[in-house]
Amino acid sequence: MRKVIIAGNWKMYKTQSEASEFLMEFISQIDDAPENREVVLCVPFTDLTIVNKSLHGNRIRLGAQNVHWEDCGAYTGEISASMLTEMGVRYVIIGHSERRQYFGETDETVNLRLKAAQSSGLIPILCVGETKLQRDAGETEQKIALQLERDLLGIDQTRLVIAYEPIWAIGTGETCEVNEANRVIGLIRDRLTDSSVTILYGGSVKPSNINEIMAQPQIDGVLVGGASLAAGDFAGIVNYK
Ligand code: 13P
Repeated sequence: MRKVIIAGNWKMYKTQSEASEFLMEFISQIDDAPENREVVLCVPFTDLTIVNKSLHGNRIRLGAQNVHWEDCGAYTGEISASMLTEMGVRYVIIGHSERRQYFGETDETVNLRLKAAQSSGLIPILCVGETKLQRDAGETEQKIALQLERDLLGIDQTRLVIAYEPIWAIGTGETCEVNEANRVIGLIRDRLTDSSVTILYGGSVKPSNINEIMAQPQIDGVLVGGASLAAGDFAGIVNYK
């Protein structure tokens, strides 16, 4: 049985007081969500402490949005895996397209970060996906295959989550057609040595499209950006039918 994960990626949003406000509203709305749905909040580093204090028993898991590959050292501005685990972090997003696009993240550094995360006991959420240009050129499969091959070199697939996030669907309101997301996620699964890896879809997920997304057989959950910032919207996604 593959694990179902509903994860929010807050990106660079919410101060500590905004995070507390969100949690007060959110927590009461997810009480009736089935136990087997793992709810993960990947928050800015500065919100980790405050979110960890209000995890509502074990209902919400704490996630970060990046991790460095060294355990300590002269790397100004970076955060190590042991710093995260000590704060109660369980999951960490690695290789998000925004990091690849704006911060020079490469498949090589993604691979290093994945290894560091796993060796500290964090579960990485590896993001892969194609640009609009690559999709229009018919290069989607090739692009993703290459990312998987390079990113997953030497990685333990039994402690891994993958998120398929077509870059053109992120923050655009233009969700990938569900059958297509299901098809690409099936292709990703075919390339893994462990077919039980939880694979999420990300890109303009909203309360209004979550039911049809979760009805797809290959899709095990979602990684939600914008709609995870409003407690009511994210609760609506967590409580999908
Ligand atoms: P949106 O849900 O805002 O499209 O963002 C998706 C995303 O990038 C999650 O990591």
